[in-house]
Amino acid sequence: MESTVLEKKEVEVKIKAQPNKINNMMQNPIENIESPIINIDQLSVSYGGDKYSINDVSAGIAKNKITAIMGPSGCGKSTLLRAINRMHELNPDTHNKGTVYLGEEDIYKMNPILLRRKIGMVFQRPNPFPTMSIYDNVIAGYLLNGIKLKRREKDEIVEKSLREVGLWSEVKDSLHNKGTFLSGGQQQRLCIARALAYTPEIILLDEPTSALDPIATAKIEDLLVKLKKDFTIVLVTHNMSQAARISDYSMFMYLGELVEYGKTKQMFTMPKDKRTEEYLTGKFG
Ligand SMILES: Nc1ncnc2c1ncn2[C@@H]1O[C@H](COP(=O)(O)OP(=O)(O)OP(=O)(O)O)[C@@H](O)[C@H]1O
Ligand SMILES: [Mg+2]
Repeated sequence: MESTVLEKKEVEVKIKAQPNKINNMMQNPIENIESPIINIDQLSVSYGGDKYSINDVSAGIAKNKITAIMGPSGCGKSTLLRAINRMHELNPDTHNKGTVYLGEEDIYKMNPILLRRKIGMVFQRPNPFPTMSIYDNVIAGYLLNGIKLKRREKDEIVEKSLREVGLWSEVKDSLHNKGTFLSGGQQQRLCIARALAYTPEIILLDEPTSALDPIATAKIEDLLVKLKKDFTIVLVTHNMSQAARISDYSMFMYLGELVEYGKTKQMFTMPKDKRTEEYLTGKFG
């Protein structure tokens, strides 16, 4: 379909605006994020029609840190997270305004398969592939994308990834059993191992512990803190104490808007916006 004159104008403005994207960031109340690995630049996402589920969100994501996204149900946390690796596009009516940069690259101009290799994702419910063994689940990214590896390479990737998530000693004698026989917490660590095995720079996690018991949750939290040495982590969570415990930066979203974003310590002790304060003190949620 032919784009309208107005749309063309918007494209021109966008292209001109790109070198100034850091300036855009400065207008937003984001502090102390030097050389962010991701720049979310005036991003709005609609699942169809004129209704936008997130509106004009700008934020830099700090490298090798944990950034938590909090807010009440339906405020757009998952939409924002999915838009960072274009998973929301699985819904065909989706459209965006604004964009997201990975380093200097506009992710909406990248090949989505390559993008998702750089930015991996872990979901709320542990979802190991039910027909695959633990071993094949770890290297599923390679198997599903037709990337051939030598047996030795596969063995190395499987062991390294399972060690990284603390699962190796628990499963090393049952690598060829199905992943679905593991406990919920083990399955979620297997899913994190699957994401890590595909060598991403960034890992997005959408409420990864909400289906887990406190012990399994604590294991995942310890793991995320350990992993941030090598990866950048963005974590959607409903659990405020989890955000307070493990994140370096926090976002508070409300009705599709990024209301407040800053250092977690500061947000929890001295929130700037009344809505953030009310949410954090349990007045709504
Ligand atoms: N696939 C979809 N199609 C249409 N609308 C959607 C879709 N996914 C989400 N939405 C709408 O977008 C808005 C934001 O939803 P989103 O799932 O991002 O919220 P959330 O903050 O993650 O909520 P929760 O805490 O319940 O997971 C909601 O109004 C929701 O109904
Ligand atoms: Mg969600």
